[in-house]
Amino acid sequence: MYHILKFTYLAVLATQVGVSLSHPSVENIEKRFVPLSMGLASSYGAIASMTLTSTGNTLITGNCGTCPGTAITGFPPGVCTGTTSAGGTDACLAEAACLSAYNNAQAAGPTVALPAADLGGQTLAPGVYTFPTSAGSLTGSVTLDGATNSSGQFIFLLATTFEAAAASEILLINGAQACNVYIIVGSSATIGAASALQANILAYTSVAVKDGASNNGVLCALNGAVTLINDALTTQTNCSSL
Ligand SMILES: *[C@@H]1O[C@H](CO)[C@@H](O)[C@H](O)[C@H]1NC(C)=O
Ligand SMILES: *[C@@H]1O[C@H](CO)[C@@H](O)[C@H](O)[C@H]1NC(C)=O
Repeated sequence: MYHILKFTYLAVLATQVGVSLSHPSVENIEKRFVPLSMGLASSYGAIASMTLTSTGNTLITGNCGTCPGTAITGFPPGVCTGTTSAGGTDACLAEAACLSAYNNAQAAGPTVALPAADLGGQTLAPGVYTFPTSAGSLTGSVTLDGATNSSGQFIFLLATTFEAAAASEILLINGAQACNVYIIVGSSATIGAASALQANILAYTSVAVKDGASNNGVLCALNGAVTLINDALTTQTNCSSL
């Protein structure tokens, strides 16, 4: 029911800002590989539906925004090097682009079942990955290898939560690019302190990043908040994939 309400709300939003959204009915669509794109959200380090909150010396290299919420707090002392849009049209277009990417990811395939719910210690080629449990995690390092296709995408589909432990990291080798990593989270994502991630993280509800972590990519909260503490977020607008 909540998903349906969300689609209805964003359809109204999309009408207002002049974009069309896809409404894939996953059961009726043959799984296929469709390269994902962050579109107008790609220049954002963080975009939230409700609130964007930072504590301490966060540095976002890129744009920052909320839509439809208008509460952006903690800047300063946090720094957003690009534009800050609190409920403005730019942020609403970015939020709509996040939802499009989230929906398109649900239709991506063929999917590959991961051997374990924790990505730590795994080395993976480009692909669309599902987890053996509804929640997934990263403890330690996961290596994403672009050897078979340096423009390939690494798409992780989680039914519920994603939790990266403290000091966890995503390593990219053989030309793999952060802009081509997508972590699609059915509820909320929690990124542990001092983690170094490289991914677009799209959460149905919220994204909480603990003290002193970094990410290369976009953080999107489709219905809730993005919460930051002394973090470094860097957008990847130079993607060479698509
Ligand atoms: C490499 O990945 C890109 C992006 O997913 C895709 O469009 C392209 O077809 C892939 N190339 C090969 C040779 O598979
Ligand atoms: C894109 O820019 C980031 C730094 O902003 C850099 O780390 C990354 O290697 C660049 N990617 C490409 C494909 O040039």
